[in-house]
Amino acid sequence: MVIDAIIYGRQAERQGRRLADLLGAETVSIQHKIFPDGEHYLRITDGEGIRGRGVLIVNTMYPRQNDSLLETLMLIDAVKRLNPHRILLLVTYLAYARQDKVFLTGEPVTGRIVLDSIYRLGIDYLLVVDIHSGKLLEPYNDRAENVLVSDILAGEALKNAKDPLILAPDKGALHRAKYAAERHGLEYDYLVKHRDRVTGEIYIEPKEVDVNGRDVIIVDDIISTGGTIASATRNMLRLGARRVFVAATHSLLVGNALEKIKSSGAEMIITADTLGIKHDDPFVKYVDILPKLASVIRNRG
Ligand code: R5P
Repeated sequence: MVIDAIIYGRQAERQGRRLADLLGAETVSIQHKIFPDGEHYLRITDGEGIRGRGVLIVNTMYPRQNDSLLETLMLIDAVKRLNPHRILLLVTYLAYARQDKVFLTGEPVTGRIVLDSIYRLGIDYLLVVDIHSGKLLEPYNDRAENVLVSDILAGEALKNAKDPLILAPDKGALHRAKYAAERHGLEYDYLVKHRDRVTGEIYIEPKEVDVNGRDVIIVDDIISTGGTIASATRNMLRLGARRVFVAATHSLLVGNALEKIKSSGAEMIITADTLGIKHDDPFVKYVDILPKLASVIRNRG
């Protein structure tokens, strides 16, 4: 799709500006304010920049998930009312996607609420970077694409790795491992993870994968508390892996997650700039995924 104008949410300025450069599009100004009672207001101050044009809205939903979700909905509605030619929405991190079904009776399916709200407002196409659960996009399959970047992340680890093997920390992440492995002509496998749905505690079952003397690249979507990655790393080192590289798309790294992963023995975290925050630590290496996103945007929607 040809993008003439880009609008970005307050947490996605870095990504929005860079995409504007890559796509040769203009950025459109937004006026924001918060009312004394805490309610949010925004206004697109250049309506003519939108009318009849191809518009890309860019946002990320971490941190401040709830505010940025509402902001995204407000941006779509505001753009829609200015009669654009087409609206493409890029969400570099989609919040609530881990609640993709009812795990315990009485829960809502929050990921579904988020996506249904977005589509109900009338976008033409949605791009999401490495959504936790592709199942959520199924009802909108012809108007949605999940952009995987595990090939780029693993590619960075491969610059140093010897006899590498790509592993997913659980079965749900297998498609990421497969995607990266197929692009680099490597072997891949997955571990077996159990999570207590009430306490959140994680247990990774040792699996008979032959990692002895090999470099392992663990590929995942989200690092939140770091429990999954730390446990998988320890497991692999115990089974004789030479080194463990972590390749995770969205590095939230909540609380002491970074320390937890460092002390598990991992070499480094390779990640993408998909959030409103960046971690300034040499252990965390950011790789550039925006050229890939720009190319997907040009060819879709
Ligand atoms: C869960 O299935 C996800 O793919 C991640 O593995 C998980 O969200 C990571 O969370 P944490 O870092 O808290 O273990």
